[in-house]
Amino acid sequence: MATIEVVLGDITEQRVDAIVTAANESLLGGGGVDGAIHRAAGPGLAEAGAAIAPCDPGDAKATPAFDLAPVQHVIHTVGPVWTGDDGEADTLASCYRRCLQVADELRASSIAFPAIATGVYGFPTDQAARIAVATIRATPTNATRITFVAFDEATHHALITALAG
Ligand code: APR
Repeated sequence: MATIEVVLGDITEQRVDAIVTAANESLLGGGGVDGAIHRAAGPGLAEAGAAIAPCDPGDAKATPAFDLAPVQHVIHTVGPVWTGDDGEADTLASCYRRCLQVADELRASSIAFPAIATGVYGFPTDQAARIAVATIRATPTNATRITFVAFDEATHHALITALAG
């Protein structure tokens, strides 16, 4: 059974085997957490992403982490763009589920997630936090440590609240 924790900080500073980036389908990088991870990993990340792109919303694909060592893997996932229809919750849940499956394939024992889709893609933070925690709890994994990394107080509170539920 994995330990699940919430931290307030920068995902590029986490000491884990794999970090998840909230990407777009091109896997070439962008702003937000994706931009931070690509800046920290260096240009090899976009090259490796381009070689395995596209990544569909709800799916996840892994590359090496390059200059982010000792982090070994970056798991790229594409969240849903929030418009308010029903399918987005399922797509977001799929992001978390697929990332854990990919982490298991990589034999990553520790993995860090950002709050996928809650920035540029506009997914409501509280609802996204509930989906994230529920999906992680429901997905069998060999990982022993799962870390949610909040970049701001509101996201941190939402994740702590979801975890307490
Ligand atoms: N560490 C942890 N979390 C971060 C960091 C960081 N260094 N930088 C930003 N975040 C947080 C944001 O505050 C937000 O809570 O990551 C969460 C996700 O926001 P975005 O990065 O905007 O991701 P998303 O909403 O999924 O939008 C993805 O934005 O950057 C582009 O290429 C990306 O097109 C894609 C879209």
